[in-house]
Amino acid sequence: MTEGNQRLIQTAIDILPSSYAPYSNFNVACIVVTENNEEFIGVNVENASYGLTICAERSAIVSMIPKCTSKKIKKIIVLSKSKVKTPPCGACRQFIAEFASDNCEVILPHGSSYQNITTHQFKELLPHSFSLNDD
Ligand code: THU
Repeated sequence: MTEGNQRLIQTAIDILPSSYAPYSNFNVACIVVTENNEEFIGVNVENASYGLTICAERSAIVSMIPKCTSKKIKKIIVLSKSKVKTPPCGACRQFIAEFASDNCEVILPHGSSYQNITTHQFKELLPHSFSLNDD
């Protein structure tokens, strides 16, 4: 694991308490990194009307869009307070697909001190994603 990734993982751990998850108690944090090395954070935000919940990944991307100089995401880190591996849900995968670079990596720290790092190519998590373009 590179020093840069360790720092990003620590940032994700640090923002976990800001997650708003009173219904599931499943706090999630996400960092997205653009091709211009800009970093954006997100946490899940739940609602009494459960279906309105926004996942950490989509929350990070929504905060990225108005501020970034590149909309291409090269790296995504997702972790949860419960320390289990937390891959992006299906809805988030489609949302990420809109902005993922060709080699976008998804990094999933888990384990008692997040010492286990599983890395996937985004493409392998959502092959044949929906797009309006025939490419
Ligand atoms: N959650 C995320 O934030 N990201 C995911 O990819 C999956 C699920 C959140 C939504 C909800 O607040 C909690 O985890 C339990 O489903």
